[in-house]
Amino acid sequence: MLLSSGKITLRSFNDNDAQRLTELANNEKIAINLRDGFPFPYTLNDAIGFISKFKASDTFFAIEWEGVYVGNISLLPLDDVHRKTAEIGYFLGEPYWGKGIMTTAVKCITDFGFQVKQFARIHTGVYEYNPASMRVLEKCGFTCEGIFRNNVLKNNRLWNEHRYALLNPTALQGNSVSL
Ligand SMILES: CC(C)(COP(=O)(O)OP(=O)(O)OC[C@H]1O[C@@H](n2cnc3c(N)ncnc32)[C@H](O)[C@@H]1OP(=O)(O)O)[C@@H](O)C(=O)NCCC(=O)NCCS
Repeated sequence: MLLSSGKITLRSFNDNDAQRLTELANNEKIAINLRDGFPFPYTLNDAIGFISKFKASDTFFAIEWEGVYVGNISLLPLDDVHRKTAEIGYFLGEPYWGKGIMTTAVKCITDFGFQVKQFARIHTGVYEYNPASMRVLEKCGFTCEGIFRNNVLKNNRLWNEHRYALLNPTALQGNSVSL
């Protein structure tokens, strides 16, 4: 699977990515913004486990910028009555922050999620201390639908979570949706 936009390519993972993923992901400034399932320290074994779990997925991607692997982005399909919704997740290695890379990658994966995977809605929760991620989502057209107070326990403290969502314009509420 390959998606591209400008200098950005989203591609499937392969076993050779494990060392580089470890280097990119082993950063507390990244881990504090993600679920505890994304550990710190992030070891080579963590990277190997992640890649073996997701390399066959068609919604989990390595981000390449100018041909270099710089971060991850994914759409996690939800289930049951939420099966037309996907949760978006992403991180970028710190040396690559502030270049507009994630804004391009989010636009790319949301287009794919709506046009190819036919999700009706893509959403995520951003912890209150992460304005850069909120800004990325706002630049990509996401709306902040509300603030879930004390919804996150991270590093032994409770934090508010800002819920951001983007709707598929061709699958609006009340329209019939192919299942
Ligand atoms: C959040 C993250 C993905 C942003 O990626 P990026 O490629 O640097 O983002 P972009 O360059 O496309 O856009 C960042 C925007 O946030 C803004 N920004 C950065 N730091 C900010 C801050 N402290 N306060 C407000 N805005 C901030 C930038 O100015 C830019 O907006 P602009 O284009 O209007 O100037 C990256 O920092 C990251 O991986 N962080 C750790 C993991 C993470 O937070 N994942 C998301 C969990 S919800």
